[in-house]
This record gives sequence, C-alpha cells and structure tokens, in this order.
Amino acid sequence: MYNDNPTIKNLDLVKVVDESAQGQVYGEVALETAPDGKRFYIESYGCQMNFSDSEIVASILGEAGYGPTRNLEVADLILINTCSIREKAEDTVRKRLRVFDKVKRKRPGTMVGVLGCMAERLKAKFLEEEKLVDLVVGPDAYRDLPNLVAGAEEGEKGVNVFLSREETYADINPLRLQSNGVTAFISIMRGCDNMCSFCVVPYTRGRERSRNAFSIVAEATDLFNRGFREVTLLGQNVDSYKWTNPETGEVVNFAGLLRLAAQVDPDLRIRFSTSHPKDITDEVLYTMRDHDNICKYIHLPVQSGNSRILDLMNRTYDREWYKAKIDRIYEIMPDCAISSDIITGFCTETEEEHLDTLSMIDYARYSMSYMFYYSERPGTPAARKLTDDVPLEVKKRRLQEIINRQTALSDELNRQDIGKTFRVLIEGESKRSDADWKGRNTQNKMVIFPKVAGTAAGDYVYVTVEDATSATLLGRQTTPSN
Ligand code: 5AD
Ligand code: SF4
Repeated sequence: MYNDNPTIKNLDLVKVVDESAQGQVYGEVALETAPDGKRFYIESYGCQMNFSDSEIVASILGEAGYGPTRNLEVADLILINTCSIREKAEDTVRKRLRVFDKVKRKRPGTMVGVLGCMAERLKAKFLEEEKLVDLVVGPDAYRDLPNLVAGAEEGEKGVNVFLSREETYADINPLRLQSNGVTAFISIMRGCDNMCSFCVVPYTRGRERSRNAFSIVAEATDLFNRGFREVTLLGQNVDSYKWTNPETGEVVNFAGLLRLAAQVDPDLRIRFSTSHPKDITDEVLYTMRDHDNICKYIHLPVQSGNSRILDLMNRTYDREWYKAKIDRIYEIMPDCAISSDIITGFCTETEEEHLDTLSMIDYARYSMSYMFYYSERPGTPAARKLTDDVPLEVKKRRLQEIINRQTALSDELNRQDIGKTFRVLIEGESKRSDADWKGRNTQNKMVIFPKVAGTAAGDYVYVTVEDATSATLLGRQTTPSN
C-alpha cells in the first residue's frame, strides 16, 4: 500500500529539496478557510494510510480553529506526517525539517510538529535531536493535537506517542482538501498484528483494531452524496477486518464490510488495500466476483518468491502456498489484476533465492509492483536476530533486475489490452494535456483518452484501448458516457 504519491515539485510555493520526495500539501481552498485565524501547513510521506491520517488531522485542527494553507511561509503551525518504513523515508523527512528550521528562524513563533510513524519510533528523542521541533505526536494521539498545540504556544514541548488499542477516529469526518472530488480513502482499521520480521509498522502503529462498520458505510454514503464515485478501504491488513456490533453481538468480517460498502450505490466503486495473502479468503474473492462495483484488483504483496526467505520474514506462507492463492484468484476472477510489494536482498538471500522472486513475478503476472531493497529498521526482529549481509551493490543490482522484469511484464500485459473496451471512471485532466482525461479501469490501470464534449470528472465512460506503455493505457472513448 506504500506508493509513490505525487511529489510536491509542481507547487511553486514549496521549495523541494529532494525531487524524489513524496510530500503532499493541503489544499486549494485553504486560504479562505480561516482568513483571520491561524493556519497550519501539512506534508505527508509514506503509505496511503498516512495521507488518510493527514485528512483526519486537518479535520481535528479545523475544529480547533486552524485553517489549512499550502503556503509554508504563512503557516503558524508546520506539520510533517512521517514514515519510518525504510531509512530513505526517514532521511527525506530530516531534510525537510532543515527547510522548516529556516522558516522558523525567519518567523519565530512558528511551530513545527512531527507526526506519524517517525514520531512514534523516535519519541521524545526527536526533541533532543531536532531542537526546533515543538511537537511530537504519534498516529493514535491526533485528538490531543489542539491541546498540545496550545501548550506549545505557551512554550511547552508537546509529546504524545501513546498507542491505543481502541482509537479508530471513527467519528471524525476527514477534511478532503487534496481531493479530486471523485476518489477518496476511508480508513477501516489501524495497526498491524502480523510481525513480519523486516517491518517497523507493528511498533509505530500498534495493535490491530477495526473501525465501526456503520461509521464506514456512513462515510462512504456521505462521499457518494457529495459526488465521489470511488472509495478505497484502507488498512495495514484489510482482510483481517473484524468488528463486533456491541448491541447485537453480530460480527462483520471483511467480506461482510465489502458487501455493505458495495450496497451504498452501484455507481460507487469500492477498492481496498492492503491484503495479506494469508488472510484473503474465498468469501472475499466471491464477494468481489459477485459485485460489479467492487474493483477487480488485489494488491497482494509477496515480499519474496523463495520459501526460506519467506520463513525468515515470518510471512507465514511459502512459495507454493502463495502460488495456490494466485491460482485461486484467477480461477474465481479471470479478469482480476494483481499487484505486489517486493523486497530484494533480505538477510542471507542467495542468488538462487533471488531468481525465485524473479520467477514469481512471471507466475503471478503482476500488473505492477512496488519494489524495494531491504533496509534494516532498528528494533525489528530481523534487526535483532538476523544479519543484514547482502552488500548494497548486490541489493541494487537485484532490485534493478526485478524492476526490469516487472516493467517488461507490465508492458506485455498492457499491450494485451489493446483493442479491449473498458468502463473507466474519469478522475480528472491528464497531467500532460488538458485536452485529455485520465481515469482508471476496474483493474486499476490508468487510462488516458481525449476529452469528449459533455463529459466530466466523476463520469463513467467506455474507452477502447489503442496503445499502451508499461504504466498507462491510451485510448478513445467509444460511447458518450454511462
Ligand atoms: N525494507 C525494505 N522494504 C520494506 N517494506 C517494509 N519494511 C521494509 C524494509 N525494512 C516494504 C514492504 C511492504 C511495503 C509497504 O514496504 O514491501 O509491503
Ligand atoms: Fe505507513 Fe508503514 Fe510508513 Fe508508517 S512506516 S507511514 S505505516 S508505510
């Protein structure tokens, strides 16, 4: 579920230090929101969950009288929602903090807050390391932000990194400032109990807990009524969603939640991320198959194609088991697209084991993958018990081989779509040309096509594919709209 979210390089108001930085800044409407009031600026890094959390933070701060701004220079409160998943993610954040330091020096009184996973991982140590940081707030403590900000205004350093077993922010209506008005994320659960040996998430986001199903459906309904046409149900491990209705004792599992969400309206598309291979059930697959508006796309991270490495990673499945899961998905939904996360160069990985990962890409026929080389994270089981012994050059070379294999496959699969017609939800203008729309088909493939008069973002249209690259389908609308 980690993705290379839009960078901030196109926003003229923000100086970007690292072109590959993710970052995201709120929002067009910002300056009207609080003409006389205080303003906050927020940048987000990491997974979609973090971006979704920033919308919760924006809502909480809005209630406390803070309006959002995309202009760092006028902000009273600068927030950075951070990621700890790999060392590089943390380095990017530290670079951004240098930039914020300069703003703060120019405008004493400006407050800087670190939110999210890095806040959780480094806790009060952050305040010592980064002297100009005023607030350190972990992912379960955002309700406390107004309090902490008020304290910081009085010169106190504010830290709250308490991890909760209950917090799901169920009652908070996220402020969708960065939105295209068509697609939105809904957080359905928080935390992770899986304990993959490489992963810092169980330590930064705490124990798994599921959000009230009715509040999720209410949020989806509200979004639909406001013109949104697609929601992505988000969680570190959505397939282990499980919520018990305290009044009736009825248990809603992930398949049940998907059914409820699909019933909101046939024109509301449902997506979800991320699935752990061990938890995705036949019931979920059949529910997907039986509802046209549940998108035929599963992000099913394999991490490695080799059974010994999977065991060291504590993934709880092996190569054969994963392959059987892939077979089952294609058996139930032949038109389903599957994508993956892959880590290369994990502790003790041999050249032959690396070849198993390469061959898994071919076997699973991934439409795309997020690919990384292993980055040891302090405090994880792998850091404590295993040796990070694959040299960096080897990790990088293996990663390049994996990227090459996936790119060639994506290209091949996309070319197979030439001549096919897809129902596409228009998300907005193509980045390259305002004469073109961009949208996605059910398999989550990006489709670019010339605008036809009378169509708008949020419309479903049929597009016939005429050309393809490894990342995009290019086509032409074949019916006016639907
Ligand atoms: N090193 C490299 N990649 C990692 N991921 C998680 N932890 C690490 C790590 N220590 C990757 C996994 C996960 C994705 C979100 O990030 O592939 O699925
Ligand atoms: Fe998301 Fe994991 Fe990064 Fe936290 S560490 S922001 S959970 S990807």
